[in-house]
Amino acid sequence: MNSPLLHELCEPFLGLLGTWKGTGEGHYPSIKSFEYLEEATFAHVGKPFISYGQKTRDLVTNVPLHSESGYIRPQGEYLAELVLAQPSGIIEIHTGSIEFTENACVIYFESIDVRLTPSAKEVTQVSRLIKIEGDTLSYDVSMAAVGEPFQHHLKAVLKRQT
Ligand code: HEM
Repeated sequence: MNSPLLHELCEPFLGLLGTWKGTGEGHYPSIKSFEYLEEATFAHVGKPFISYGQKTRDLVTNVPLHSESGYIRPQGEYLAELVLAQPSGIIEIHTGSIEFTENACVIYFESIDVRLTPSAKEVTQVSRLIKIEGDTLSYDVSMAAVGEPFQHHLKAVLKRQT
């Protein structure tokens, strides 16, 4: 089967498509800092969204850690929505934008709502900054959670897989 044409609304996000692997580190005042391995995939089916999934493992013990999946929904004019679900019972709803500089593409999402299953830990705000420079994708995630003020939780650097 021929691969579908990228939907025109997804064109600004072309550089994200594919599979990325690398390492990251996380911290928060209420937990022990950790390092992780990550694999993330962004894909399209020709419709006006990009599907996203990632899974992580502890860098030292290889035990599975966080995973998540969702969709980027481009809205034109370099704007986009993001919806994400986590097995920890957290649902993130964001709006954001994509910007191009001479060497990089920068995508920034800020949550407009975070919903929780009854047993999920409390998270009230999340932001995600993604930067693509050639075959390197780096990101930062910040959050307000478990009564702590909004602050950094994760940073990672991934390489494009061919
Ligand atoms: C690469 C992605 C991520 C990894 C590897 C990761 C890893 C971890 C680890 C190892 C912990 C401590 C152990 C635990 O309680 O399970 C933790 C705690 C937590 N994470 Fe993350 N996390 C990730 C993404 C996220 C995201 C996107 C959110 C929220 C939007 C989030 C929210 C939390 C919360 C609320 C806690 C509990 C803090 C506490 O109990 O004091 N994490 N994370």
